[in-house]
Amino acid sequence: SWTPEAFVDMTVSELKEKIGDDKVVLGLSGGVDSSVAAVLLHKAIGKNLYCIFVNNGLLRKDEFESVLDQYKDMGLNVKGVDASARFLDALAGVSDPEGKRKKIGNAFIEVFDDEAHQIQDVKFLAQGTIYPDVIESVSATGGPSATIKSHHNVGGLPDFMKLKIVEPLRALFKDEVRRVGAELGIAKELLGRHPFPGPGLAIRILGDVTAEKVRVLQEVDAIFINGLKEWMLYDKVWQAGAILLPVNSVGVMGDERTYEKVVALRAVESTDGMTADWVNLPYEFLQKISNTIINKVKGVNRVVYDISSKPPATIEWE
Ligand code: XMP
Repeated sequence: SWTPEAFVDMTVSELKEKIGDDKVVLGLSGGVDSSVAAVLLHKAIGKNLYCIFVNNGLLRKDEFESVLDQYKDMGLNVKGVDASARFLDALAGVSDPEGKRKKIGNAFIEVFDDEAHQIQDVKFLAQGTIYPDVIESVSATGGPSATIKSHHNVGGLPDFMKLKIVEPLRALFKDEVRRVGAELGIAKELLGRHPFPGPGLAIRILGDVTAEKVRVLQEVDAIFINGLKEWMLYDKVWQAGAILLPVNSVGVMGDERTYEKVVALRAVESTDGMTADWVNLPYEFLQKISNTIINKVKGVNRVVYDISSKPPATIEWE
């Protein structure tokens, strides 16, 4: 029967055999799959694994710095690339959800290609593809592994796509990936992270994306996610986040009338993201979070909670 120990032993020796003394480049996303793939490869080939972690400026608050530090603590040979400005420029004036995904996917490919070029004689591209990615072609773009799949037929391949592909997690389901990660000694906190879409906060800002909107949403999202952790609700939820709506609503503060943004909170239970139910979060929690958001985040005067299930709603609003 399948065990994480046996999988790690077998895969490490297969990777050693396949790769030898060659160099491998891998895009880290901060998510479970790419992180486990990286640690597994690192165990097999050490410093010949070159990891690239791109900040697209659309990550959660402080995530780039904290995740980069975690990767370094794990001994990975990782280069953090802050390309926030490039992604925000590419997104300027784009409101259409698929348009945003395309811009982000293309910007990612450009940045990754530039970086991969700086590694001499790299022979392999590693990806954290897992079995569900292989069987379903979900609407996944914008992340390290996902982007490459959905754009590889656009013609004029970037050079890194001409590399030989290594996908050590290709046969595994998500729970098996987590078990392999635990076997490799990856922190529980990292392995238990909620899924986060490659295009990040861009698809949780309805309408066009600006640096200021990203900042507001990062603040709101951090209050919500930290609250879930403090209230021991984080692990009971499959995915959670906040959405910045493109409308203003009237409010009142002291004697003043306000006319400010509305945010929606979303938390779902799911096993694979294909179907999902909204989570019945305690009213006391929602009350606390709503007050904190409205008091602390300038520019937001109303919080709503999304009580739609998938289908027919989707998890994301875009
Ligand atoms: P939906 O909104 O389709 O989301 O119910 C299902 C799962 O997929 C994630 N998602 C994405 N992930 N690129 C990604 O890498 C994308 O463009 C994308 N769109 C949705 C979503 O966060 C949820 O986990």
